[in-house]
Amino acid sequence: MEKKWWHNAVVYQIYPRSFMDSNGDGIGDINGIISKLDYLQQLGINLIWLSPVYRSPMDDNGYDISDYEDIAAEFGTMAQMETLIAQAKQRDIHILMDLVVNHTSDEHPWFIEALKSKDNPYRDFYIWRKPAADGGPPNDFRSYFGGSGWALDEASGEYYLHQFSKRQPDLNWDNPRVHDEVHAMMNRWLAKGIGGFRMDVIDLIGKEVDKQIMANGKNLHLLIRQMNRATFGKGDYVTVGEAWSATPEDALLYSGAEREELSMVFQFDHIKQFWDEHAGKWCSKPFELASFKAVIEKWQTALAHQGWNSLFWSNHDLPRAVSKFGDEGAFRVPSAKMLATALHCLKGTPYIYQGEEIGMTNVRFETIDDYRDIESLNLYHVRLAEGVSHDEMMLGIHANGRDNARTPMHWDDSPNAGFTTVKPWIAVNPNYREINVAAALAEPDSILWHYQKMVALRKQYPVLVYGDFQPVLRDHPQVFAWVRSLDGERLLVLNNFTAEHLTLDIPPEMQNWHGECLISNYAPRDQLAVRLELQPYESFALLIGR
Ligand code: NOJ
Repeated sequence: MEKKWWHNAVVYQIYPRSFMDSNGDGIGDINGIISKLDYLQQLGINLIWLSPVYRSPMDDNGYDISDYEDIAAEFGTMAQMETLIAQAKQRDIHILMDLVVNHTSDEHPWFIEALKSKDNPYRDFYIWRKPAADGGPPNDFRSYFGGSGWALDEASGEYYLHQFSKRQPDLNWDNPRVHDEVHAMMNRWLAKGIGGFRMDVIDLIGKEVDKQIMANGKNLHLLIRQMNRATFGKGDYVTVGEAWSATPEDALLYSGAEREELSMVFQFDHIKQFWDEHAGKWCSKPFELASFKAVIEKWQTALAHQGWNSLFWSNHDLPRAVSKFGDEGAFRVPSAKMLATALHCLKGTPYIYQGEEIGMTNVRFETIDDYRDIESLNLYHVRLAEGVSHDEMMLGIHANGRDNARTPMHWDDSPNAGFTTVKPWIAVNPNYREINVAAALAEPDSILWHYQKMVALRKQYPVLVYGDFQPVLRDHPQVFAWVRSLDGERLLVLNNFTAEHLTLDIPPEMQNWHGECLISNYAPRDQLAVRLELQPYESFALLIGR
């Protein structure tokens, strides 16, 4: 496998609205991010995935862009953005811009033009269809944010497609002029010195609308290859595509070295398996280790020699990692450390979502009015109208709603967690007095320092980056363990994924394994012997002597 600089890199995701407010308007901003670059450098990360900061009416917090080449006033200015790129680079940190080109905002000039008339040159930038025979939407496609995925433009009598909110009209990727505009825009961003792109719902751009194939359409890989050739393929950039529909076979198409497409994709098998088949994320299934192990193993194995995995537990659309996969109560600290070790000891490029490094947890607002996310708000009303009770829907929002990840970052224990000096745009999680960066920095045993150590280990030990992945103790119902091996070196990674004390019988062939414990969340282990008494969420990585 050809080595790339980003193979041992670690990415940190910033959701700008919630990261740091520098100007006292209750909303995070670019200068706030600049003020925290030293913190990120200390953590050791190499790349920042910056969720959208472009000009936007903020119907979907910036995933509805009205100008790809300007910055939202609440976040700052283009000059500040350029300073951020430069200041990050001085610390060897590169910025991945969020490329949202499945759709624009309805306030984008292209859409404003498109609305003017059926023969406007920009009409064909979007996807229009005549009404069905009864005058209703052309078909029954539903938007991800609830309701029909078609909205009527009364002036022309035609419907336009929107897979997300109706203020996010889908671009028409069958129109080569769309490619030209998007490629030119991407090149102008690359010229500003960014490190690459995270590509929003990229699997939706090749859709075949009339066949109702909305993801993974037949032109998808062709479109990505064209984009690669016209833009980032000309330099050493990092690209990560968001691809909810991706199977391992698809991931090889996206990220295979010969394919000239993307560096890697985000896949969501380990997330979706805990969603209900019908009610989706609003009806959570309890965490179950056996199927979780199976999914992780499947992806590690499928991309072992070709392609590349992205590794993540959380992002701005998902619940907090420790709340979902660990224990946000009594074992918050050891379970958050276990999750850090587990993630960073898999093969792929790890992503840390802001706040994960201090073990931030889900939030439980009692009334729907405290929520801000368009998806939770819309689906609350849609599902209640369908007969779901308030309590049931709130359970779903508490478990999987996107605002869990969007409450402000906890910097210290001062009012509003040091995020802002005024009322923030969304309430702070009340546990900030205990869980915050200042406290974590002052505590040598904190989750934060564990992350810092883990990020550093990836730079130090090639076995963590390139080592083959081999599961061990495969059928164990509570332990998830594997061995990474490279050039005769072996690293055993062992995690107790439960809150229980376990007695683990070590299989005979592993009993004499001993060596150097690279990281642990209890006392270091340097040998296995016959039996281990594992603590709740105990986890360690043991480099086995040759
Ligand atoms: C995926 C993004 O991560 C999410 O936040 C957004 O709402 C949709 N794409 C639409 O852009």
